[in-house]
Amino acid sequence: MSFDQNLWTSLPTPALLIAPDDQIVDANPAAEGFLNSSTKVLTSGRLWERVSIDAPLQEAFSRARQDETVLYVNHINIGGRDRAPVSCNIQIAPLNGSNGQMIFLISPRELVTRINKAGGAQAAAKSAIGMAEMLAHEIKNPLAGITGAAQLLSMNLSNGDLELTDLIVAESRRIVKLLEQVEQFGNLRPPEKKPVNIHDVLDRARKSAMVGFGAAMAFVEDYDPSLPPTLGDADQLLQVFLNLLKNASEAAGNKGGTIRLKTSYDMSLRLRRKDGKAASVPLLVEIIDDGPGLPPEIEDNLFEPFISGRENGTGLGLALVSKIISEHGGWVTVDSVPGRTAFRISLPIATRKDLQSDMETY
Ligand SMILES: Nc1ncnc2c1ncn2[C@@H]1O[C@H](COP(=O)(O)OP(=O)(O)O)[C@@H](O)[C@H]1O
Ligand SMILES: [Mg+2]
Repeated sequence: MSFDQNLWTSLPTPALLIAPDDQIVDANPAAEGFLNSSTKVLTSGRLWERVSIDAPLQEAFSRARQDETVLYVNHINIGGRDRAPVSCNIQIAPLNGSNGQMIFLISPRELVTRINKAGGAQAAAKSAIGMAEMLAHEIKNPLAGITGAAQLLSMNLSNGDLELTDLIVAESRRIVKLLEQVEQFGNLRPPEKKPVNIHDVLDRARKSAMVGFGAAMAFVEDYDPSLPPTLGDADQLLQVFLNLLKNASEAAGNKGGTIRLKTSYDMSLRLRRKDGKAASVPLLVEIIDDGPGLPPEIEDNLFEPFISGRENGTGLGLALVSKIISEHGGWVTVDSVPGRTAFRISLPIATRKDLQSDMETY
């Protein structure tokens, strides 16, 4: 295809590529989700056959194609196969240099308001999360009903059947946990920043890993004791390290492995902020494991929500890491080959002023 495949697949807005005869040529993942159809099904027909549109768009469509102009239509109901129509705004734009192909963009109106409310920043992640959050909320209630009913049922059952109700309860709990992660992601509050000793946070994370998900792992501490405090939210930073330790432990599997927690100071690291100013982020925390390394197919989108390389993964762990670290004015990178995966987090240091104002609150 002549345009950027990455852009196409990460575009959070449902988008279709339409040929001059109105045949659907391609559908991005957002469109597949929105229309509840696969690209394969969608591209096997014309726009009007595969998408239900309650407006006489055909004429407008061919006009836009002829004039090579962009067409905007608001408040029309669009639905897909097995998908009830919802109110949408659409844009139809000619794809330059494509001999009459058009891009058909669908913005569900509910999503539009949500994104606007959220301020437009990181709209991609936010819209996906917004959808998931709504869903999470909707699914939790009936699920509680199902679990409760299974538990009631189990009271009068023989052992063989009990296994089945136990399964229902256990699997429902797993779904609830997953949904809670989605909600947690959506509800993340801004960090309450104070001077924080990063080694204390790392210790807390390591200890809780050792008694739980990281029981099979060996931990090596490689700390620079002279490291000054960072300015951050200790609980949120704890969450960051827990997520990284958890991923490293999960990657290692049952046989275990070694996780190295390393801190150092690198004054040369600077970060260009949105306002153009460079800020220094000299505190370096590295979480290094000797596991199999990142699955290559997700490496490029690792920090995006819902990108997971595990069967039961949510793909929210690293998205949360990235969100928290960016709200702390830091950055996170990863470097992975089989046998060595290193997540590097760079954080700013607390200024003298931060330290003083912290003292005054006691
Ligand atoms: N240390 C690591 N070693 C190997 N793969 C990793 C590591 N950390 C993350 N990954 C990969 O990145 C994916 C995304 O991680 P994450 O965002 O935490 O979501 P989840 O753990 O729910 O899958 C994981 O599923 C895994 O495939
Ligand atoms: Mg994870």
